[in-house]
Amino acid sequence: MATTDHRKKYLCHHGLLLPKVALSEESIQFSMAFEVQDDDIFAVTYPKSGTTWMQEILPLILNGGDLTPVQTIPNWDRVPWLGGPRAPLVLGDRPPPRVMVSHWPYHLMPPSFYTSKAKVIYVTRNPKDTAVSSFHFHGMASYLDDPGTFDQFLDKFLSRQVIYGKWTDHVKSWRNTDIEGRILYMTYDAAVFLQDLRAAVLRMAQFLGRELSPDILEKVVDHCQFNNMKTNIMSNYSLVPKDIMDTGKSLFLRKGTTGDWRNHFNAEQEARFSAIIKKEMEGTSFKFPWDDE
Ligand code: PPS
Repeated sequence: MATTDHRKKYLCHHGLLLPKVALSEESIQFSMAFEVQDDDIFAVTYPKSGTTWMQEILPLILNGGDLTPVQTIPNWDRVPWLGGPRAPLVLGDRPPPRVMVSHWPYHLMPPSFYTSKAKVIYVTRNPKDTAVSSFHFHGMASYLDDPGTFDQFLDKFLSRQVIYGKWTDHVKSWRNTDIEGRILYMTYDAAVFLQDLRAAVLRMAQFLGRELSPDILEKVVDHCQFNNMKTNIMSNYSLVPKDIMDTGKSLFLRKGTTGDWRNHFNAEQEARFSAIIKKEMEGTSFKFPWDDE
């Protein structure tokens, strides 16, 4: 049963738990009525799968490597959340193409999205690393429930008692769409090492119809590496007051790697987690880099 504290922190929208600090009934209304334009671009993720990374990479691809926006505009205004309170404020006079991030599952996008030609980059991350990242995030973000022990948090993560629901529901929703041709599937894990990041940036640029010269490509890749992004105050959430995000407990840009789950899961947790994810993905044919781990 929801406690008063829980009700203060979350709202419920179509059965999904959402953080009140990041969304309100009004901002959700704005999102639902949002008039999507054909040249809009959405980076869609389940939380903790590389959203902030996309907020860094996409403006640089689109503006030919000009670092000004990523060095002067906080990520939440630079590439706002569709559904968040900043979108109505910053999107109004923005020249096309407008770039947004979103954690919405496919069926909760605005109606005009489905008939538009807007492009989507959908980023997935190994669910075990996603859970680990989320666990630490719950420990530092005061607007989310305390995660409890890692074991307790895994139960919540697997039973959709976390923001935006189940990882499997989200991933499946975006794989079973009728927008083929305007959606690019990427994985966090296939971009995390330097060589791979270069290839990932090129793939995204190609998808968005942008050519990057070798020099600009190097500039984008260099800037968007974890260690460089980590020191960018416009992207590392250090501008957020400590009583909302306590970076003394965990940094937002925490480890930025793949496979950290091995430092958190014991054998029983790994078996339980894998079995549940496998069962929920039954009947799907998508392949992920972590499937054979
Ligand atoms: S949120 O709250 O949904 O917006 O979080 P999100 O940005 O999706 O995910 C945060 C995790 O992404 C990592 N991250 C990066 N990893 C590698 N390279 C770069 N450049 C990068 N930028 C962000 C971030 O560190 C979080 O993962 P963890 O595992 O916690 O470090």
